Amino acid sequence: MPHSPVSSLVLAAGYLPERASSVAAGVDGVFSFIFWLSAFFLALIVAVTVTFVWRYRVRASRPGPEVSPDRDTRLELLWTFIPLALVMVVFAASTQVYLAMTSAEPGAAPLTVQVTARRWAWRFDHAGGKGSNELHLVSGRPAELVLSSTDVIHSLYVPEFRLKQDAVPGRYNRMVFTPTRPGTYAVVCAEYCGTNHSRMDAAVVVHPDQASFDAWAREGVQPEESLVDRGRRVFDENGCSACHSVDGTPGVGPSLKGIWGKTEKLRDGTTVKVDENHVRESILQPGERLTAGYDDVMPPIPLEERDLLGVIAYLQSLKETP
Ligand code: CUA
Repeated sequence: MPHSPVSSLVLAAGYLPERASSVAAGVDGVFSFIFWLSAFFLALIVAVTVTFVWRYRVRASRPGPEVSPDRDTRLELLWTFIPLALVMVVFAASTQVYLAMTSAEPGAAPLTVQVTARRWAWRFDHAGGKGSNELHLVSGRPAELVLSSTDVIHSLYVPEFRLKQDAVPGRYNRMVFTPTRPGTYAVVCAEYCGTNHSRMDAAVVVHPDQASFDAWAREGVQPEESLVDRGRRVFDENGCSACHSVDGTPGVGPSLKGIWGKTEKLRDGTTVKVDENHVRESILQPGERLTAGYDDVMPPIPLEERDLLGVIAYLQSLKETP
């Protein structure tokens, strides 16, 4: 990740947790810049206040207040444009760091994990089928987390990664970064979500390499069906294949083969990217955004959260199959 120019101003380590992700240095850079800037102005303002209080204190030789000018344009311009320049620096540096958290580096195949939050536990479904109450990642390999919630708003926070993202019911949020240091860290919930909010934690295990991750992913029998299998079953049970083929054959509705990630033309002339949020809407409110060339004939299918995730995982798998 390209480091922001202020990353070099990072505080001497000590009171912040160790940095274990690609975005951590950038976050610390912005934080340190704001921290030292605030410390500087705090010291300056206190010093000027104390000086003036001492210098203009009541004295016998000074019976009343002296006349002072009612304005000073030069001074007003200074205290307008210096803060403006400083907040613009903060804005530019934070935007750069923020963008690095939301878009994947081109070329790298990320390890995707579907994160589901509920009161009061985390569930992590890893690409390849392994589900767990622990988040497993690979050091040096980009990770792409897609977060959702089945009840209220939660927020996934890993202090060592310097990353936090809300898990919101009814939509999918994305978080992209690369873990850089093998080890085990704590995932905590950073959005008050009820009685056991403070106990809603989990472990994130960063494997030193892909082989170690694969060994973990193979280990143990999978007692429950994977998200992809669940999605295929839900797809069949709800009769979706009557209108939507998965092999490219045209039907009453668009074929779903290779549709994931594509930009689709809509009937109203706009376009939409086929991602988690679009698939969700097309199942729950199919009439909202109709694909160009198709009629508004599909009824809403009120699937529950995990079934929706299953269908999304299934559609993604249709892209991977040639
Ligand atoms: Cu979940 Cu706080």
